[in-house]
Amino acid sequence: MKSKARLNAVLTVLLLTPAVFASLMFGETSAEKKEAKHAKTFMRQKLVYSQDVLEGLTLENYDLIVTKGMKMWNMGKSNLWQVIFADEYQKQSASYRGHVMAMVEAAREQKLEAAREAYVKSLQSCYDCHKYFKVEQRARLQKAKEGK
Ligand code: HEC
Repeated sequence: MKSKARLNAVLTVLLLTPAVFASLMFGETSAEKKEAKHAKTFMRQKLVYSQDVLEGLTLENYDLIVTKGMKMWNMGKSNLWQVIFADEYQKQSASYRGHVMAMVEAAREQKLEAAREAYVKSLQSCYDCHKYFKVEQRARLQKAKEGK
């Protein structure tokens, strides 16, 4: 089935990108490790919700899109990283939540195409935010190594 292959491709990209990214990010002190572990669990949950939404989008289950989409949106509101990199995190997070909300609203009006488009944009926000924080994290680790 063609759509199933596409779904698998999307899921693979979705799963691999943050995992590769996260493996580059963590390390260093035990306090940082603890912090990272908490954040990991949080982010894993976000991934689960986004998969549920994907299921809703493929099966045209609007209730699923709305309920899990709201959970995705709520999760955009709080994260440990918000404390560390306040300004940039707020910016990235606002863009993520904007797309998720657009998706939820489209689903409420049963506009499938619009919901699908907004979902793709929300995924783009996942990538954008991850990309930014990978750079940040590397810079921090480098500084720590140099003892600054
Ligand atoms: C506003 C910034 C931001 C957005 C948006 C964002 N993330 Fe993340 N994500 C992070 C940061 C920072 C990390 C690394 C630290 C952490 O886990 O919080 C991360 C890590 C992850 C991880 C790795 C967790 C682990 O087990 O190591 C996954 C999976 C993940 N994100 C999934 C997602 C998905 C799926 C989305 C979109 C639906 C998303 N993230 C959106 C900032 C973001």
